[in-house]
Amino acid sequence: MKRIALVGAGGMLGRDLLDRLEGSFACLPIAGKKDLDITDAEQVFEWMEGCRPEVVINAAAYTDVDGCESHPERAMAVNGEGPGNLAAGCARLGVRMIQISTDFVFDGNRDGAYDEKDTPAPLSVYGVSKLAGEERVARNLEDHLIVRTSWLYGVGGRNFVEAILAQAEKGESLRVVQDQTGAPTYVPDLSRALLRLLVSDARGIVHVSNSGCCSWYDFARRILEFSGYAHVPVEPIASRTLNRPARRPANSLLSCERYRQLTGEGLRPWDAGLRDYLKERVKRHGSEGRE
Ligand SMILES: NC(=O)c1ccc[n+]([C@@H]2O[C@H](COP(=O)([O-])OP(=O)(O)OC[C@H]3O[C@@H](n4cnc5c(N)ncnc54)[C@H](OP(=O)(O)O)[C@@H]3O)[C@@H](O)[C@H]2O)c1
Repeated sequence: MKRIALVGAGGMLGRDLLDRLEGSFACLPIAGKKDLDITDAEQVFEWMEGCRPEVVINAAAYTDVDGCESHPERAMAVNGEGPGNLAAGCARLGVRMIQISTDFVFDGNRDGAYDEKDTPAPLSVYGVSKLAGEERVARNLEDHLIVRTSWLYGVGGRNFVEAILAQAEKGESLRVVQDQTGAPTYVPDLSRALLRLLVSDARGIVHVSNSGCCSWYDFARRILEFSGYAHVPVEPIASRTLNRPARRPANSLLSCERYRQLTGEGLRPWDAGLRDYLKERVKRHGSEGRE
């Protein structure tokens, strides 16, 4: 069995991916920084020498986009230097690496979807640090794949779907940003795509998200509709009215054409993924989901 080291296995994506890897691969999970701090190059080399994986998947990151604005050093260490350390270790031992990255490396000024050849121009510290991670991986290791994805939600994460439902359940009024467009991506759909890429020998950058696009406002409306809260009013607002510390791209839609060419298939529409997430949620929480 192929030996796969999964870093960030305790995170929202990591947990789901680990479940899917187990059985088909010999998994070497690193849940979080208590197991291995990827910002410490020595620790990373020692760990890799000890476990000798064939592939390293890095799903670890400092993902608090607004938090990164007030902790830029931590953002750069975890999202920039961490992946670089992993890639340097992989290069020493002849290991392949898959690095997870983000649509927030783009500035959002493009009309239409971004493809892998478009020039990144991040607006936030988070985006800058994730781009630095991409660059270090590419510089340190030839056999790498950088998978950019967008607007993730899945079980166990502090995600947008849960935030909207929590407000609806409490009867709170909802105000949601209408001027940012992208593709919500259901974690299990991304995990399945990563499994397909894992057995390919694709290199470079590939974009993977659910298909279609929407604004956060459209996303919120669909969440409520699918959960029996269609009657709950939502006020569409402009992002500047929220005054959040980090700037976000107005359009961060990713073109997934390369992924389609590599695997012969695309991901399903975002709202089909959402339906599945909400069905699973009802199973987990009983009637809470109201479907
Ligand atoms: N969430 C989104 O909307 C989104 C969108 C696009 C792309 N992405 C990318 O997708 C990937 C997965 O995101 P996610 O939302 O699943 O992340 P997450 O739930 O925030 O989990 C992040 C994981 O990284 C670990 N980690 C943080 N600092 C570490 C360090 N110094 N050393 C080792 N591990 C460390 C965390 O462990 P601790 O518990 O120890 O901190 C945790 O297990 C990331 O690369 C992210 O940038 C996410």
